[in-house]
Amino acid sequence: MDGNIPKLGLSNILLMCVIGAITIRAIYQRWKNRKLYAFMSSIPGPMSLPFIGGIYVCIGISRNNLFRKLKTFKKNYPGIIAGIWERGKPHLIVSSREVVNAVLASSENIDKIYHYRNVKIGTATMFSASGTEWRMIRNIMNPSFQTKLLPLFDVHFYNHVKTFVSNLKEHLNGDKFDIFTPIHLCTIDLICDSMVRNRIGAQENRLVRFSYVMTQLYEMLFEKIFSPLLWSDWIYALSGKKKLVRALRKEQNDYLQKMMDQRIRERAELKVAGHLETSQIYIDILLDKMDAGILSKQHIISEISEILVAGSFTTAIVLSWVFKLLAVYPDIQEKAYQEIKKNCSGEEVRLDELSELVYTEMIIKETLRHCGVPLTGRNLTKDVRVNDSMTIPAGIQLIMSAHDLHHDPEYWERPGEFYPEHFSPANEKSRPKGAFVPFMGGKRVCPGSRYAMRSMRFLVANTLLRYKFSTDENPPKDIRDMDCRYIFLFLPTNGFLVKMDIR
Ligand code: HEM
Ligand SMILES: *[C@@H]1O[C@H](CO)[C@@H](O)[C@H](O)[C@H]1NC(C)=O
Ligand SMILES: *[C@@H]1O[C@H](CO)[C@@H](O)[C@H](O)[C@H]1NC(C)=O
Ligand SMILES: *[C@@H]1O[C@H](CO)[C@@H](O)[C@H](O)[C@H]1NC(C)=O
Repeated sequence: MDGNIPKLGLSNILLMCVIGAITIRAIYQRWKNRKLYAFMSSIPGPMSLPFIGGIYVCIGISRNNLFRKLKTFKKNYPGIIAGIWERGKPHLIVSSREVVNAVLASSENIDKIYHYRNVKIGTATMFSASGTEWRMIRNIMNPSFQTKLLPLFDVHFYNHVKTFVSNLKEHLNGDKFDIFTPIHLCTIDLICDSMVRNRIGAQENRLVRFSYVMTQLYEMLFEKIFSPLLWSDWIYALSGKKKLVRALRKEQNDYLQKMMDQRIRERAELKVAGHLETSQIYIDILLDKMDAGILSKQHIISEISEILVAGSFTTAIVLSWVFKLLAVYPDIQEKAYQEIKKNCSGEEVRLDELSELVYTEMIIKETLRHCGVPLTGRNLTKDVRVNDSMTIPAGIQLIMSAHDLHHDPEYWERPGEFYPEHFSPANEKSRPKGAFVPFMGGKRVCPGSRYAMRSMRFLVANTLLRYKFSTDENPPKDIRDMDCRYIFLFLPTNGFLVKMDIR
């Protein structure tokens, strides 16, 4: 008996020491982060509870209802700004134009929020890297996105959009079909040809599997972001999802490896023949850096993988929305058709005719307003001064909701409606700068925005000239009430179903 007393005493002392250490650490942490705590307590938002912070407000929010939830979120937390502590990190959700513009204008706050780690593939790439690593890659790649290179891609636009319009014929049987896959195959062809100099022939060869693998991979990665249970590495492994993701990644990389090897062979042959010219095309810049020993082969595969997603998936989703929404709003579709028919002389719309198609461009912008990239995030590494009364301290994880900004009644006459007039020349002129940021802005602005707009206008004009789209769905009262899931952008839960007739 006696022998137990000192033992109990010892464990009590140990326990006290541990509790003491935890308390001191917590007090120290709080002191060290006093600026963050002071800032967070000045921000409206849900009450922060011990351990879980404010994450309980996310209960009920899922990848499948984010479209609708973002609408109510703003109602619950007026001022459009909410602060949430999540996993010990202070998160701030903003949609204020002043804040978004102040952050984008800052040349130092260029680090992505840590959630991007979940979607990162392999090495840190232009899309996912932070700090000096990102600066290096962005500087290397910027020349390949210059406006003056765009005409080099015209021939690809003509080829692949022609194939797209012609292949659509098989859907003239009156049945509903999901227009996403045919469009995605076309945008894959465009990006592969323009950026990777590879005629993969996704449309001719019906590489539906390639589109599926890319979509499924990102579907799973976004599922993980929204499922706290799956954040645990071993649960992810046990659920079998880890293995599946790895298999999808491998399959995607096999396609990319082949494309890259082909360009490496071509370059070697050209070099031998003395015809290898300096080129600012994306893949050539990368391979030059590989030859110079600056980038590894693995890194280049990761870069191609992400440019393919960033370029083809985004564009395909936005285009699919254009046709789905035009099917729902036949009057708007008819107006666009009349404009295209009047302004274009031949059987096909030419690239030099695009500038006349003002209304068509308004439709694409209105689609980007509703269905563009809804959220982006930054890990603030430097304080951001918004105005005299507000400075956001470094250390905040900032989530910028372009989606909310794009529905702010202060800037948009009919926030929930599909109303291309929002982008009439007069309305665009009177809207303050930075109220419409579909490609974000500042240092990390989307480098492919001009390419994307040109390809989308061209594809939409040529498709509407030949076909008429319809649907049996009724127009929604508010577009934000539609059932959607979230993979970089919102996708309708039932797919992009439309019916099609020839003009
Ligand atoms: C409709 C089509 C597109 C939309 C809506 C879109 C939107 C965006 C947005 C909002 C960002 C910024 C993300 C952030 O700030 O966190 C971004 C970044 C990026 N986009 Fe696009 N994009 C589109 C098309 C393209 C195309 C066609 C390309 C390539 C040819 C491309 C390549 C990239 C890359 C590489 C980045 C990362 C830039 C960096 O972080 O430095 N995008 N895009
Ligand atoms: C944010 O950036 C800082 C500075 O680079 C870094 O120390 C910190 O770990 C980052 N935070 C997160 C949550 O990624
Ligand atoms: C082009 O279309 C617009 C309608 O958006 C029309 O007002 C204009 O007259 C057309 N231009 C030509 C040259 O037909
Ligand atoms: C500063 O900006 C914040 C966020 O947009 C806003 O809520 C606040 O009213 C602004 N203050 C002043 C003095 O403009």
